[in-house]
Amino acid sequence: STERTLVLIKPDGVRRQLSGAILARIEAKGYVLAELKKLSAGRELLEQHYAEHEGKPFYEPLLEFMQSGPVVAAIFEGERVIEGFRSLAGVTDPTTAAPGTIRGDFGRDWGLAVQQNLVHGSDSVESAEREIAIWF
Ligand code: CMP
Repeated sequence: STERTLVLIKPDGVRRQLSGAILARIEAKGYVLAELKKLSAGRELLEQHYAEHEGKPFYEPLLEFMQSGPVVAAIFEGERVIEGFRSLAGVTDPTTAAPGTIRGDFGRDWGLAVQQNLVHGSDSVESAEREIAIWF
């Protein structure tokens, strides 16, 4: 059925001026851009967004990284967009993400404490609605 998903272009993607290229790929696959904004995320917002990762070794580096520059937040809509965007994004580790995916084509390991992997996408209908309420 028709779903909505939250897409974030993380600070590495914005810094590298890949926002347009990333949004173009999602639109080209056929998903509809419903909302779009650029913002600097504060710690409180990020604590809510990443609540499930609290306590993991990469949690603090992740919050630091996500505050290192502006992000682009978008809502995309379409049939099975949650699954479709995650397929388009590729696996979490950009080194092994398949060529043809956003992470596989534009990302790599930079030897840092956190995976800088360009984009975030919601992983379920429940997390999409939760995350959209946080960011929009
Ligand atoms: P994201 O899908 O936004 O959710 C959590 C983020 O933490 C993830 O993308 C990566 O940026 C980062 N991350 C996840 N697992 C690891 C890991 N094992 N080491 C470093 N960073 C990670």
